[in-house]
Amino acid sequence: MAEIDFPKGFVWGCATASYQIEGAWNEDGKGESIWDRFCHAPDHIKNGDTGDVACDHYHRYRQDVALMKELGLKGYRFSISWPRIFPEGRGRANRKGLDFYDRLVDELLSAGITPFPTLYHWDLPQALQDQGGWTNRDTAQHFADYCAAVVDHLGSRVKSWMIFNEPWIFTILGYMAGIHAPGVRDPSMALRATHIVNLAQGLAVRAVRATGKTYAVGTAFSMSGAYPASDSDEDRAAAERLHNFYNVWFLETIQNGRYPDAYVGGVPLERMDVKPDDMEIVKAPLDFVGINLYIRNVVAHNPHDENLGIRILSVPNAERTDFGWEVYPDALHQAITRIWNDYHLPIYVTENGCSYGDEPDENGVVNDDRRISFYRRYIAQVARAIQDGADVRGYYAWSLLDNFEWAEGYSQRFGLVYVDYPTQRRIIKKSGYWYRDLIAANRLQ
Ligand code: FCB
Repeated sequence: MAEIDFPKGFVWGCATASYQIEGAWNEDGKGESIWDRFCHAPDHIKNGDTGDVACDHYHRYRQDVALMKELGLKGYRFSISWPRIFPEGRGRANRKGLDFYDRLVDELLSAGITPFPTLYHWDLPQALQDQGGWTNRDTAQHFADYCAAVVDHLGSRVKSWMIFNEPWIFTILGYMAGIHAPGVRDPSMALRATHIVNLAQGLAVRAVRATGKTYAVGTAFSMSGAYPASDSDEDRAAAERLHNFYNVWFLETIQNGRYPDAYVGGVPLERMDVKPDDMEIVKAPLDFVGINLYIRNVVAHNPHDENLGIRILSVPNAERTDFGWEVYPDALHQAITRIWNDYHLPIYVTENGCSYGDEPDENGVVNDDRRISFYRRYIAQVARAIQDGADVRGYYAWSLLDNFEWAEGYSQRFGLVYVDYPTQRRIIKKSGYWYRDLIAANRLQ
């Protein structure tokens, strides 16, 4: 592979999320979140794991920022825990919660690393879930109020913000599949939740801009490559519907104030409880798009599915990570160029990465060559998208640390840094050193 230079100022970073790394689940006045509740109940998470301690980042953040500095990161994407700031979801802010993020931001800035926070990476205050969570329209306004309070507080030092992480995943897996918190299995509720989250997104964008302290506001959307199973018009249309539902259900809305054509019989606006003036609230165009990409979908037309009319095919003999996710780098190029062509907004790859279970060898070295191979091939596709004209400003590897991988508990390791959970020792993996060299050269070799 030829060497590829990246644009000057390209932001190389790593991403994490509060519940997955912080621990300290009930310290310093933090309220209970839906993930605390979900993990404390039996049979939800592999091996009964919880995020109670996770990577203990709440206490070890200084050491973790030092690791980031050692890797030469330019940016760090993390999330703010809503119940740390508002234990009940609203009302009076918890000073100690704000203090933690103050300390983290100061530590990052003094290490020369740009903080790039997400306001919601899935840890809804349980008190709001008790009133219906994302199926209650009031949650949208509480969320906007929370966002404005945080941005107002940190806004003198933090300029770019993401409103949501993967709204599609937390509504569909949380309210339809029930495998994520709050564990609801109700397709109509899930659809309703997607609309309330769209309202929340529009309200929050306005609320944070109203502080006068933001420079750029976006969201990190889960996206997949969408590949038709054949060249037939029907399969192509099916792949397009999947793209419309999976990739842009929360992007077409905020940019253009309309739901994309994902349903064969038309978008079920009534089932979603869309009210007459809602789409004006929903529309609040973003300054950038965050793309989180791990997978692709191969899609066939399915006349028996009256909703999306699709069937997702499994790919035999594919290269897969230890999570079982297919390695298909072209998907990242496809998603970036599609979003660039359709929306013409600056793009950040806000997550991309892989789970491989490599452990330290007898010398304490983690030789995760498969991860290096993964990153090399995916990052090459980012370069290709830039060469094709897309305005990609940065790339955030998921993740800095091995961490709590939701329903999979600690069984999947995504980190550039290995975490020995019993001792909390961190070991930079071979891939971490590889990433450090890439960043230093700003060149893929
Ligand atoms: C994404 C999530 C992130 C992490 C990766 C593997 O869907 O945003 O928290 O779990 O998957």
